[in-house]
Amino acid sequence: MTGRRPDPAFWRGRRVLLTGHTGFKGAWAALWLNHLGAEVHGFALAPDTEPSLWEEAGRGLLASEVRGDLADAAAIGGAVRAARPQIVLHLAAQALVGRGYEDPVGTVRTNSLGTVNLLEALRTCDALEAAVVVTTDKVYANDGSGRPLVEDDALGGDEPYGASKAAAELLTHAFARSFFAPRGVPVATARAGNVIGGGNWSAGRLIPDIWRAAAAGVPPMLRAPASTRPWQHVLEPLAGYLAYAEDLAAGRPVPPALNFGPPPGPPVTAAALAEAMLAALGAKPAWEAQAGAGLPEAALLALDSSLARESLGWQARLAAPEAVQWTAAWYAAHRGGADARTLCLDQIVQYEALP
Ligand SMILES: NC(=O)c1ccc[n+]([C@@H]2O[C@H](COP(=O)([O-])OP(=O)(O)OC[C@H]3O[C@@H](n4cnc5c(N)ncnc54)[C@H](O)[C@@H]3O)[C@@H](O)[C@H]2O)c1
Repeated sequence: MTGRRPDPAFWRGRRVLLTGHTGFKGAWAALWLNHLGAEVHGFALAPDTEPSLWEEAGRGLLASEVRGDLADAAAIGGAVRAARPQIVLHLAAQALVGRGYEDPVGTVRTNSLGTVNLLEALRTCDALEAAVVVTTDKVYANDGSGRPLVEDDALGGDEPYGASKAAAELLTHAFARSFFAPRGVPVATARAGNVIGGGNWSAGRLIPDIWRAAAAGVPPMLRAPASTRPWQHVLEPLAGYLAYAEDLAAGRPVPPALNFGPPPGPPVTAAALAEAMLAALGAKPAWEAQAGAGLPEAALLALDSSLARESLGWQARLAAPEAVQWTAAWYAAHRGGADARTLCLDQIVQYEALP
């Protein structure tokens, strides 16, 4: 079986509201949607990293852009009215577990209430064909066994970020059933694992932290070296979100929530990922464990994506070593002066050509 690719015939000329376009996944999504011929409208805060993939690669990609806060119902309402989207991909979020501990109220405001503000605005959008609300693998009540989680597992969220996204799940499904299903508009949620890829400059994320340490010639400090995560290349869940939106809009009978994780295989620890990334960068594969207990995070986390494979024909195509190679190659070329947009587009084309 081969992995599913986005259908340019579907996306060409379609009006898409993409929230979170100034972030890591959002910038890649905007590039891919633009490459597919979609008319992309963005809603997000200003980029908060230096450098920023969006600042480097995003110029001129959007049909319109609103820099606004999801907590501001009038701002998101205005963006929806102006864009009249046919498809909505909701990626904007406070996306960091650590920041969720520092600012739980702000995290809930953005991730839970912000999602409701968007959905409320979409209720009066007559052009809407489908919406995909992006959450995370951390929405599940994780029993800590490492068993790959399936869509029917109980939602939970053990820390503020996970809980804010689990709340977004519940609210999205309530709005979907109450307001959108009666209009025949499908609204669904997508749960992905930890993404890696070129151009992520966030603080407190493993790959950017490793890249910065390698560039400085020091060993990276790992928060939880033995923790496993469903690491995947950023293009993998994005391909899933696009396929999901296509099938929802076409009225195909797909589930209301789907997991998008890496290919099945042995779990990958943070330490193994760090060593692979350092080796791919040509640096010494040495790291140090961060002293102290740190903030509590799930030790074992794995996702079962069988349902996405069965219902969408989507499947992950890059195993962890390849995802690391693609990521390291991006950072190394960028450091050598290559243009960020060209690097992303080359990898998008390369990804589309995979079997
Ligand atoms: N990066 C990962 O490993 C990962 C894993 C699973 C799920 N996700 C989810 O994928 C989505 C994208 O994640 P990312 O890694 O690109 O995050 P990111 O932090 O790089 O980008 C977040 C985006 O959301 C926007 N945003 C944040 N707060 C906002 C607010 N109050 N109002 C409007 N816009 C706001 C930012 O401006 C930015 O555009 C998020 O929903 C995140 O929860 C990410």
